[in-house]
Amino acid sequence: MTQGKVDALLGIVFGDEGKGKVVDFFTPRYDVVARFAGGPNAGHTIIFEGKKFVLRSIPSGIFDEGKVNIIGNGCVIAPDLFMAEARELEAAGYQLTDRLHISRRAHLILPTHRVLDRAYEAAKGKAKVGTTGKGIGPTYSDKAARIGLRVGDILNDFDTKYTALKVRHEQILSDLHFTDYDIADEERQWMEGIEYMKKFQLSDTEHEINRYLREGKSVLAEGAQGSLLDIDHGTYPFVSSSSTTSGGVCTGLGVAPNTIGHIFGIFKAYSTRVGSGPFPVELFDETGEEIRRIGNEFGAVTGRNRRCGWIDLVALKYAIMINGVTDLVMMKSDVLDGFDTIKVCTAYTKDGVTTTEMPYDTEGWQAVYEELPGWKTPLSHLRKEEDFPAPFKAYIDYLEKALETPIKIISVSPDRDATIMR
Ligand code: IMP
Repeated sequence: MTQGKVDALLGIVFGDEGKGKVVDFFTPRYDVVARFAGGPNAGHTIIFEGKKFVLRSIPSGIFDEGKVNIIGNGCVIAPDLFMAEARELEAAGYQLTDRLHISRRAHLILPTHRVLDRAYEAAKGKAKVGTTGKGIGPTYSDKAARIGLRVGDILNDFDTKYTALKVRHEQILSDLHFTDYDIADEERQWMEGIEYMKKFQLSDTEHEINRYLREGKSVLAEGAQGSLLDIDHGTYPFVSSSSTTSGGVCTGLGVAPNTIGHIFGIFKAYSTRVGSGPFPVELFDETGEEIRRIGNEFGAVTGRNRRCGWIDLVALKYAIMINGVTDLVMMKSDVLDGFDTIKVCTAYTKDGVTTTEMPYDTEGWQAVYEELPGWKTPLSHLRKEEDFPAPFKAYIDYLEKALETPIKIISVSPDRDATIMR
């Protein structure tokens, strides 16, 4: 943590790297926690004082009384889902309104955006993205098309603007012959959410964050999704629609590149992906099943099975480069405890061509592996690096050399204290 700087905490593969687990560890060190991209497609599972919460739009600093939490301009927000999430926290005794500030530039997800999400997916036939169905793509499309509704619009002739956009959406749905939907109940909840949002500070958070930085305060930019789901740098078109990488921190919060301090890149000791799209390390065998079972790899938002595989150094090197990762954080190492050998994907190959650089189109590439000995020892009770079994130390050394970036934090179990700083 650096005073007067923004540090970023980013999932650097396909999301679900376990950010929720380390957030406990990070948030107490910062004055401000800000979300800069995405919306309710995220599901950060946080266990706080024995109770489990799934945060979708609200930053994880909300559990610490002294923190300011910001939903930045790069985010999209669904008022009904936001209200449900916020009310759950309020019911658990957390006071939100003074501490949660929402950018007036963030875009609103309308009920019809969610219908459009379904309609576009249906129209894609076999090439579905496998979205979370939360209306993310259509909302960011409207933003780029300069017809979206922003949080600031809530305070200014809202009903007229809402109806105009809804009618436009209905026309598109009719053109797509996607008419089997009924949003009446959803829309009532959504409008209640709009009213509910008015009790929050809807402000120009870009000025606010920069003021904090000038005052020497520290800001944590909390990522959502993962780098390979970035609209520019991910495995397009099988991506989300926001800028999930460190560049997105600047555009999604309104902070300049020279305010960025540390960039923490979170990855798992193996790979997972939810939804469709190329995944060269995917295992279709018992090992893949085993990783899914031990790692409990089921989606937090959709409950879908996560696709599982060995660690992918091609993807990680690329993500480290794109993000400028300064410190790596390795999660869920203990999931690999039982394996005789651990495989590491070092390159991709296709049609006689082998590459260690992430290709433009990862479709059809096969993973090339190296094998390392497994540690065959439970890690979850270990709290000191000195106690790590030699093959696990060798795995860490191997990764650090290959990735040319230090692994500064290692998690060896879901327990809060099983996070080892190096
Ligand atoms: P969307 O963000 O709902 O449009 O979904 C686009 C793709 O990103 C789909 O493959 C989703 O499964 C994936 N995705 C979106 N959010 C997350 C996340 O928080 N974790 C993992 N995958 C995600």
